Amino acid sequence: MSEMINIIVDGKTYEAKEGSLLIDLLIKEGVKVPYFCYHESLGADGNCRMCMVGIKGQKRPQIACDTLIKKEMEVFSNTPEICKVRTDILELELINHPVDCPICDQAGECSLQEFYMDYGLHSTKVTIQEKVKHAKAVDLGANVMLDQERCVLCARCTRFTDKITGTHELGIVGRGDDAKVTTMPGRPLSNPYAMNVVDLCPVGALTSKDFRFAQRVWFLETTPAICQGCAKGCNIHIDHNKQKYKDDVVYRFRPRRNDAVNGFFICDEGRLSYKELQENRQESATRNGEVIDEDKALQNAIQLIENSKDSISIVIDANLYTEEMEAILLFAKTINARVHSPLAIYEDESFGDDMLKSSKRGANYKSIETLQIDTNEPKTSSLIINFNHPQNFNASSNINFLTHKREHSALTLPIAAYSENAGTLTNEDGITQYSQQAVRKNTPMPKILEWLERLKV
Ligand code: SF4
Ligand code: SF4
Ligand code: FES
Repeated sequence: MSEMINIIVDGKTYEAKEGSLLIDLLIKEGVKVPYFCYHESLGADGNCRMCMVGIKGQKRPQIACDTLIKKEMEVFSNTPEICKVRTDILELELINHPVDCPICDQAGECSLQEFYMDYGLHSTKVTIQEKVKHAKAVDLGANVMLDQERCVLCARCTRFTDKITGTHELGIVGRGDDAKVTTMPGRPLSNPYAMNVVDLCPVGALTSKDFRFAQRVWFLETTPAICQGCAKGCNIHIDHNKQKYKDDVVYRFRPRRNDAVNGFFICDEGRLSYKELQENRQESATRNGEVIDEDKALQNAIQLIENSKDSISIVIDANLYTEEMEAILLFAKTINARVHSPLAIYEDESFGDDMLKSSKRGANYKSIETLQIDTNEPKTSSLIINFNHPQNFNASSNINFLTHKREHSALTLPIAAYSENAGTLTNEDGITQYSQQAVRKNTPMPKILEWLERLKV
């Protein structure tokens, strides 16, 4: 087992594992070091040369991503000599770069922009006419576009398809000025995790077809949340924006690092699931599809519950937050109802894989088990109260609390979607995680806990 040792970086002492990568220590301790090709999920490649540092006793600067920590090591990360080396390397990276930041989706979260401001600020010696021209909009597959001119050839994207998905769709062909990323013949980039290359790309070379030109990133507010696409519970950032005179809108989901759950990645289906959250929403109380007054609908619901006491079943969605499930169980006791969550509809073998995607499509499947909620369909009741379970159930009367519109004739009340609400979920491995409220609508849909308060009979 490696020993913990002390090393000095810029005069400060840090504890590190002997034999571990120097760049990992610098990143962990917040020591500023620029890098393009290194990524903690992909390891070192050593091709960009940006992560140069000085090491006592070494004549030339060394790349931190390929330097192992040794006893008595002393590192210099920001001497004038090291900064000059970085400026020179950056100048090479930028020789043929189009610098089209004003129309680039990455602007505002681009490593090249950031490093230029930190180490560059030089004038180009190459005119725009002299720059080598490449293709600006190459369709790589289902969800990703490539701008070959913006690419810094860091090979993160190709290593992702080689090392992480093992699908090998991407490669770098050509040499020198002509080198470019491309797909292998007849193999478009279309694996279920393809869009992660957009996050991995340190510049604006790879962009998401879905997010292209949709929004400037500096207008987006980011909220940490949990994806509800399946029982894996991948950690995500919800990027949303409430423009003046408009409503709060989600523009994208991005993976949020959690080594115990999803590492650095999420699946494309989960990433794009933000769209469904915003489409076809149940926004008012309805009966037979006709909008009715919300207070009247509530009175109607209370009446139905009073008239059906002792013959009521409640069915709940396996995506509800645990706090909602617990509150529904308490409410059920007050009206002598039994709570069910039939799980068969959430099983989807065609979705699951051995990377992240789970064939269990309910994000809080585990809490259904822990809270011992009946997973069978309810036996015939006079009244069924459905809290967003995807199935419709037959009964003499139904009350539905739904996020999305559905074909049926029941009395229906709108509820907030998970992005408009906060709570905890326990994933299939038993890890409990908190998902924050991202979206604040101009006219918020009531949360389930609010409806339960109003339903007290
Ligand atoms: S990648 Fe985009 S934002 Fe970054 S420097 Fe190039 S054009 Fe500008
Ligand atoms: S497309 Fe992006 S990730 Fe791929 S090699 Fe170029 S800069 Fe790196
Ligand atoms: S990050 Fe070290 S060489 Fe690229």
